[in-house]
Amino acid sequence: MCGIVGYIGERDAKEILLKGLEKLEYRGYDSAGIAVRNEEGITVFKEKGRIADLRGAVSEDVMGKTGIGHTRWATHGVPNQVNAHPHQSTTERYTLVHNGVIENYHLLQKEYLPGVEMKSDTDTEVIVQLIEKFVNDGMTTAEAFSKTLELLHGSYAIALLDAEEAQTIYVAKNKSPLLVGLGDDFNVVASDAMAMLQVTDTYVELHDQEMVIVKKDSVEIQKLDGTVVARDSYKAELDMSDIEKGTYPHYMLKEIDEQPAVMRKIIQAYQNEAGELSIDADILEAINASDRLYIIAAGTSYHAGLVGKEYFEKITKKPVEVHISSEFGYNMPILSEKPLFVFISQSGETADSRQVLVKIKEMGHKALTVTNVQGSTLSREADFTLLLHAGPEIAVASTKAYVAQIAVLAVAATVAAKHAGHDVEFDLIKELGIVANAVQAMVDSKEAIEAIAKDFLATTRNAFFIGRNVDFFVSLEGALKLKEISYIQAEGFAGGELKHGTIALIEDGTPVFALVTQKPVALNIRGNVKEVVARGAKPCIISMEGMEEDGDTLVIPNVHSLLTPLVSVIPLQLISYYAALHRDCDVDKPRNLAKSVTVE
Ligand code: F6R
Repeated sequence: MCGIVGYIGERDAKEILLKGLEKLEYRGYDSAGIAVRNEEGITVFKEKGRIADLRGAVSEDVMGKTGIGHTRWATHGVPNQVNAHPHQSTTERYTLVHNGVIENYHLLQKEYLPGVEMKSDTDTEVIVQLIEKFVNDGMTTAEAFSKTLELLHGSYAIALLDAEEAQTIYVAKNKSPLLVGLGDDFNVVASDAMAMLQVTDTYVELHDQEMVIVKKDSVEIQKLDGTVVARDSYKAELDMSDIEKGTYPHYMLKEIDEQPAVMRKIIQAYQNEAGELSIDADILEAINASDRLYIIAAGTSYHAGLVGKEYFEKITKKPVEVHISSEFGYNMPILSEKPLFVFISQSGETADSRQVLVKIKEMGHKALTVTNVQGSTLSREADFTLLLHAGPEIAVASTKAYVAQIAVLAVAATVAAKHAGHDVEFDLIKELGIVANAVQAMVDSKEAIEAIAKDFLATTRNAFFIGRNVDFFVSLEGALKLKEISYIQAEGFAGGELKHGTIALIEDGTPVFALVTQKPVALNIRGNVKEVVARGAKPCIISMEGMEEDGDTLVIPNVHSLLTPLVSVIPLQLISYYAALHRDCDVDKPRNLAKSVTVE
């Protein structure tokens, strides 16, 4: 949700910034801008739209060895050129990019900037105007920056240029992700290491409420009170092939295709030397010492959490509640005596989940984060982390992270069950191996699945997804995937629930996707299909081998009944992909969305 970059060194900054922003575009893509500094001062280019639009607006003639850049997902102020970052102070001495939300910007504006004419509708402009005001009052830039940071309530990752100080980028972070990258004779700043992998793989993590003075040959991290902090750098475990599309037309398709490999990677990553599944003893103890797990997540990760509840309840015999993070923090249920919180988050940065983490930590509870991003905020701030090992997920619509979340939750539930002395009647390594092959069979069925998308979704206004038991949870995910990238209104329902109202929406030809992978309820869901067909629906039945009937649209390979979500979701992901493609939608960057939602 907004991405920022910065470069200070010996090369022309423009291209490095633009390339960096292209890699961060998944974080927001309604407007973008860069500021380049050279002997003549600071030049700002900004545009509404994508980085490609910004590229077209950047003049080749402006060269500069220092610069900052921003790609935006609008929070305050509509997406237009004026509200795009960078923002400048009245005299244009200061130029700043910001990711986050300043909650008290109105109050600050009223108190400190009464006569200052604002150029934009953003909360960000207040930051840059405050810095200039404090400098006008007699402070140095560093003092003014630090004083401003002390006044801000909310989240920020900031990079600031001072027109009168060529050799510095001022940087600060609170609650929004930000890294400093180190190079020979240059340094960089980025919301995500991916952006600057083009120039360095060595990074230093920043913590909340830190300010950094970045020069081409030095990086000084300070707390807001001026104390200097020493911190080691680390190597980003990414390589360019992880973050490039290669020959794929879209990241989403690449990431769907990576899912069999992700399954195998998880089996490998969670195996010990004896060839058994294993997770940290501390995590096992925390799970088994708790009397109830509270899974907290948003969107697709919430859907994975619903499946995870099945695993912990059925395999580990542990009661579980699954909550939407944006609701939980502000309407907390009565908690059990010994809760353990499990945060599921691909990015590890989702602000809705983080506000819950902050609250439950204040209450003295323990937290486990299940995330794809090592070192992410939710991972750092929780007591324990389980990594997804899915590799960077760049398409806005989550696919491989969802299956990785479910597989890692299955591993955790199974290992915890054994640790607690419960019998586990299946060999999860073997079963996940079967799943990996089944997922491969599904991703290899693209032609058949594309035909389904064309047949059922070419012109429809809406679609329904139904299932029972875990198939219901996958239906929710199938519907979310379809609506977010194809803009077809889609809803997922428990098969038995449709007749309690929603069946009124079924008309001649309404597509209804029904999942049939759970034997005990197979007849029930087939009965629900008959109900909608009797009202004119066009059914697409996706059943599992061994439960198929004549007329089913697609049959998925047979896997363990608890693990079917890992396979049944694949055709739904592909159906959404092809529906969006044939409707000329921007598959990887759907409208109004951003990959990492770092505002509440
Ligand atoms: C949908 C999607 C979102 C995310 C949600 C939570 O395809 O990706 O619904 O699942 O925004 O994000 P994370 O998992 O990063 O916390």
